[in-house]
Amino acid sequence: MSTSRRHFLKSAAASLVAAQKVGANDRLQIALIGAGGMGSGDTRYQLACPGVALVAVCDVYDGRLARAKEVWGNQLFTTRDYREVLARKDVDAVIIATPDHWHSRITIAALDAGKDVYCEKPMVHFVEEGKDVIAAQQRSGKILQVGSQYVSSLVYQKARELLQAGAIGQLNMVEAWLDRNTAIGAWQYSIPPDASPDNIDWDRFLGNAPKVPFEPVRLFRWRNYRDYGTGVAGDLFVHLLSGLHYATRSTGPTRVMATGGLRYWKDGRDVPDVMLALLDYPKTETHPDFTLALRVNFKSGVAEEQFGFRFVGSEGVIHTSPAGVTVSTVPPEAEPGYTIGTFTKAVQDQFVAEYRKKYAKTNATADALRPQKEDKYVPPEDHDAHREHHRAFLDSVRQRKPSIEDGVFGLRAAGPALLTNRAYFDKRICQWDPQTMTAT
Ligand SMILES: NC(=O)c1ccc[n+]([C@@H]2O[C@H](COP(=O)([O-])OP(=O)(O)OC[C@H]3O[C@@H](n4cnc5c(N)ncnc54)[C@H](O)[C@@H]3O)[C@@H](O)[C@H]2O)c1
Repeated sequence: MSTSRRHFLKSAAASLVAAQKVGANDRLQIALIGAGGMGSGDTRYQLACPGVALVAVCDVYDGRLARAKEVWGNQLFTTRDYREVLARKDVDAVIIATPDHWHSRITIAALDAGKDVYCEKPMVHFVEEGKDVIAAQQRSGKILQVGSQYVSSLVYQKARELLQAGAIGQLNMVEAWLDRNTAIGAWQYSIPPDASPDNIDWDRFLGNAPKVPFEPVRLFRWRNYRDYGTGVAGDLFVHLLSGLHYATRSTGPTRVMATGGLRYWKDGRDVPDVMLALLDYPKTETHPDFTLALRVNFKSGVAEEQFGFRFVGSEGVIHTSPAGVTVSTVPPEAEPGYTIGTFTKAVQDQFVAEYRKKYAKTNATADALRPQKEDKYVPPEDHDAHREHHRAFLDSVRQRKPSIEDGVFGLRAAGPALLTNRAYFDKRICQWDPQTMTAT
């Protein structure tokens, strides 16, 4: 029997067992690993769905375990060691919302322990970890969903429909930006005044990262350090790439360039706070070749966060923002016009006579009046992409249907995002193969 067929049968058998274990109406028991801001939010979303119960929480800071009990009750099993969570028979699925440097390691261990996994973005800390995550998902037959919720957003669903319908002609460029303009937006998260080596498992936080002495800022503002986080590339570009790949049905770029600098938040961080990247997307069955320009700026001269996409095509622009989608289109020029003032009078007359034989029906100035059309789509007020993303995960778990953002999708978004870091830090152009998901 071929390896792929054996693998398929193994996955199918594993899925069947899981399907028998978690029926559509059964109670699903979940656990949270990494009980900070996002993990708590993710847990709230899942608990808001019917038939979901939280049984265990893991974190390396005791304060967050105590807080979990305050919020979700004293019956919770809590631990500093995620392996104790994975060993529990009463846990069906886990949310992994640790700093990035733990994502792949805990995800692989969880899948191998037979748990379904919702892992926050970016799926990996380094590109090279991606294949092992995908392999673990395949050999376990378990559900893995990555937590980039743009994939569940009605805004990107609308953009996808419009692109597919050819609403803006031929796509040639995409711009996407996410500018944060507050201290919290720039990762200046609060440090609890009781943080100490007694209530923090420092070595467990560090994991495979270089050993450094206890310094709470490195845990509570881990995004500022490349040892634990992935900078704006893995924190924010990855969201933009997930949204883009979903909307264009793309597998990814082939060439990645980046520049930027640390311009404002000189607080000890070792990652830039302004970053610009250019990525080349080759033609595929779902889109023509186009260029992507990404931008993050943590101090962009305005008060509020700014976030959006411009999909630019030959006949219009799709603009997305949290408020919705605007499509403006302009019909193709009826005639090209001419610039003949520097030619001699005789040549001008000759040119106009020939031009009028070719373009007899209109005149060049009429093109200035080409009618622009604008359509708006506003999602329902109560639409919440995050909530939908968690619903999709729970649907996959209950119905044993493929995840909408699996390991392959996760790596195809995280890989090029992380290559923008490599391009920035190594000052070079990086190549990426979106099919094999390898950096060359
Ligand atoms: N999808 C989104 O929109 C979104 C938004 C914010 C954050 N995130 C992602 O969620 C993850 C967590 O981010 P956050 O803002 O919640 O950070 P956070 O610092 O608030 O939470 C991380 C938690 O993990 C704990 N932790 C560290 N090492 C651990 C280990 N080995 N085992 C168990 N717990 C450990 C920390 O003590 C902390 O409580 C990140 O990967 C981030 O990229 C996603």
